[in-house]
Amino acid sequence: TQAPVNVTVTGAAGQIGYALLFRIASGQLLGPDTPVKLRLLEIPQAVKAAEGTAMELEDGAFPLLSGIDIFDDPKQAFEGANVALLVGARPRAKGMERGDLLEANGGIFKPQGEAINAGAASDIKVLVVGNPANTNALIAQAHAPDVPADRFTAMTRLDHNRALAQLSKKLGVPVTELKKVAIWGNHSATQYPSIAHAEVSGKPATEVLTDQQWLADDFIPTVAKRGAAIIEARGLSSAASAASAAIDHVYTWVNGTPEGDWTSAAVVSDGSYGVPEGLISSFPVTAANGEYKIVQGLEIDDFSRARIDASVNELAEERDAVKKLGLI
Ligand code: NAI
Repeated sequence: TQAPVNVTVTGAAGQIGYALLFRIASGQLLGPDTPVKLRLLEIPQAVKAAEGTAMELEDGAFPLLSGIDIFDDPKQAFEGANVALLVGARPRAKGMERGDLLEANGGIFKPQGEAINAGAASDIKVLVVGNPANTNALIAQAHAPDVPADRFTAMTRLDHNRALAQLSKKLGVPVTELKKVAIWGNHSATQYPSIAHAEVSGKPATEVLTDQQWLADDFIPTVAKRGAAIIEARGLSSAASAASAAIDHVYTWVNGTPEGDWTSAAVVSDGSYGVPEGLISSFPVTAANGEYKIVQGLEIDDFSRARIDASVNELAEERDAVKKLGLI
């Protein structure tokens, strides 16, 4: 059998961690032939709670789980990591300004980037889930100069899955009939969920969904504000669906996208579609041979252009703000 893959998970004692770790242990992150070793990172006050989760993981008697180590030091947690899921982040407290939020997260993602640079395995793949995910990924990447920049990604797969779910409900077709939906821009309320190139049972989605008003006034805001709707209903932020999307993101990265389809991920821009080079922005992407690649050559209509630009401008502002704070 294969040697175990080291998977580092930060924020392991949090609510996403609780849903995520069991999916990883069961083999859903990398596939049914790959044993995993978990390396959990928490802040000192939450190490005990992480130990409790680790006890439950043991009690799952997962055949693929070959070990669990718990750390409160990033340098140790990322040692030898092949996959890193950066879930722990500083949430926005009441009355907190954006600058304060970015600064607090810089205090988390800068040392984690440095630790990845210093000790992660040469094939390291990083997914940032903790918000503001795109900019946290940018901070971590800036402090890992020896790691290829494209190994740092941020999660918009939950937004992608939410878009599939909304379309599936509207059209009364299973999600498997939907292809080439895309999320563009920032994982925030400015994101642009697009059906401009999507297919429904092989037909252009724009021919099936001609209700422009539904797209602009219902579909797009419903997907973009779904996180707030979940908080409103559940009293807690989305956790199991976020964990599920994190599983999907890494599984696809490692195992590839199916022929004739793509997915969405926030990856480092090479300047494609006018997105400034270096920003970590969501694009339609394909995966093959362990690499995400931005889908090239798509025509961008005016409706899409305005929405992509608005979200990308927000990302550029966040980048300027963390630059000003000396975080990148
Ligand atoms: P949570 O508050 O339940 O758990 C976060 C955990 O991170 C806590 O246990 C905390 O102790 C830990 N943590 C804080 N700083 C840390 C550090 N420096 N190192 C290691 N661990 C640290 O939060 P939850 O619900 O699990 O969400 C985690 C993050 O994911 C939040 O930032 C949330 O906004 C984000 N999120 C992102 C989504 C996306 O689509 N990209 C979707 C849903 C949530």
